[in-house]
Amino acid sequence: MSDDAKTRGLLGWIDARFPFTKLWEDHAAKYYAPKNFNFWYYFGSLAIFVLVLQLLTGIWLTMYYKPSAAQAFASVEYIMRDVHWGWLIRYLHSTGASAFFVVIYLHMFRGLLYGSYRKPRELLWLIGMAIYAILMAEAFFGYLLPWGQMSYWGAQVITSLFGAVPGIGEKLMIWIRGDYTVSDVTLNRFFALHVAAMPLLLVLLVAVHLMALHEVGSNNPDGIDIKRHKDTNGIPLDGIPFHPYYTVKDMVGVVVFLIVFVLVVFYSPTMLGLFLEPENFEPANPLKTPEHIAPVWYFTPFYSILRCVPDKLWGVVALAASIFMLFLLPWLDRGKVRSVRYRGRGFKIALAVFVIAVLILGHLGANPPSPGRNLVARICAVLYFGYFVFLWIYTFFDLEKTKPEPERVTNGSFKWLWEWIQQQRLGKTKPEPERVSPK
Ligand code: HEM
Repeated sequence: MSDDAKTRGLLGWIDARFPFTKLWEDHAAKYYAPKNFNFWYYFGSLAIFVLVLQLLTGIWLTMYYKPSAAQAFASVEYIMRDVHWGWLIRYLHSTGASAFFVVIYLHMFRGLLYGSYRKPRELLWLIGMAIYAILMAEAFFGYLLPWGQMSYWGAQVITSLFGAVPGIGEKLMIWIRGDYTVSDVTLNRFFALHVAAMPLLLVLLVAVHLMALHEVGSNNPDGIDIKRHKDTNGIPLDGIPFHPYYTVKDMVGVVVFLIVFVLVVFYSPTMLGLFLEPENFEPANPLKTPEHIAPVWYFTPFYSILRCVPDKLWGVVALAASIFMLFLLPWLDRGKVRSVRYRGRGFKIALAVFVIAVLILGHLGANPPSPGRNLVARICAVLYFGYFVFLWIYTFFDLEKTKPEPERVTNGSFKWLWEWIQQQRLGKTKPEPERVSPK
């Protein structure tokens, strides 16, 4: 921008004091993203959308919620029955929590599909994993707040896991609870963590996540580097400005997401007990343990891994390891290509088996254990960890037969469709005359 323009108008005044235009250009108008983004690339912007939704609805809930063991449950009922539109704000927030995990799991899966965690995006992946860990803590702290039966007993079970740490376990558990058992003190600190500490961390980490992304540039469904082919101005030939192209594409994603989301909010906010469990419509009762304690669906695969190990300490180790393995992915996968489009058959089968194992573990974790179910859970846990071991062996010993990557990005599976549309368009236009016609 010229010095003259910089000093003109309100924007010029701001730009002379704060790099507003520079930030806008660096991160939107002149951020060149690969032109072949597909369905899987909706979920990053959707995650930002859901984060904002959760922050806004959360602030409104906090205006009426009472963080005390004596009043919490009744204050939620008050929000649902007496506060104007309170039921809507609460259901938007509770459904938003599940939607957040749906979006994040699809966002992470995209990373596995296209090898987005591979060099140079290792740090971007690690920051993403830190976000995921904080998001799990945020959801766990929030779940105690309604002070229902499942809130109480879920917190009791999860905090008791820290008791399994050798030596300091008992003290650590009491320190986390702030009491010998989950109590009013626990509720108060979980409230503080849920409404202040974790959201702050999340917003901060998301900003860092985007900075790291824009430093290295986005990956794409072909997994190839668009910076290899630039025009004379240094702009990637296969890149298009994020704004307006992807801002508009992402808005379409938000609209479609909202249609599905409000259908759930208005017609099935409990999702048959999956998003809000029936037990949680009963006030917490420390004297009555529910018959079956299970976390919300987004934690059940990990809960299943914890439960299928007979020893408590090793169960906790397996649970922690199952999440930790995801952090290690950038260093376990040494394949020659990034995208599933050009990877060997072994990778595709392993990824499919991994996803099926996670789904089965998730289903088992939501149901009471039985000897048969435990056996299936153990097999699936082995398959879960097997994915990481396989990936390392498969790529470290160069056993993968990859397909050649293209030089430039492609339109992927829908190439035929684009070509067909273009042909139809060209075929339908009539030749224009050189000069205006008399009629
Ligand atoms: C609040 C949570 C999160 C938000 C708001 C967020 C936001 C975004 C956005 C806007 C993008 C760029 C658009 C896109 O590629 O879809 C992105 C890219 C990316 N995110 Fe996230 N993200 C979150 C969590 C995560 C998590 C949990 C992981 C994985 C552990 C992750 C890993 C990545 C990776 C690897 C990319 C680059 C993908 C590529 O270029 O192919 N993110 N994120």
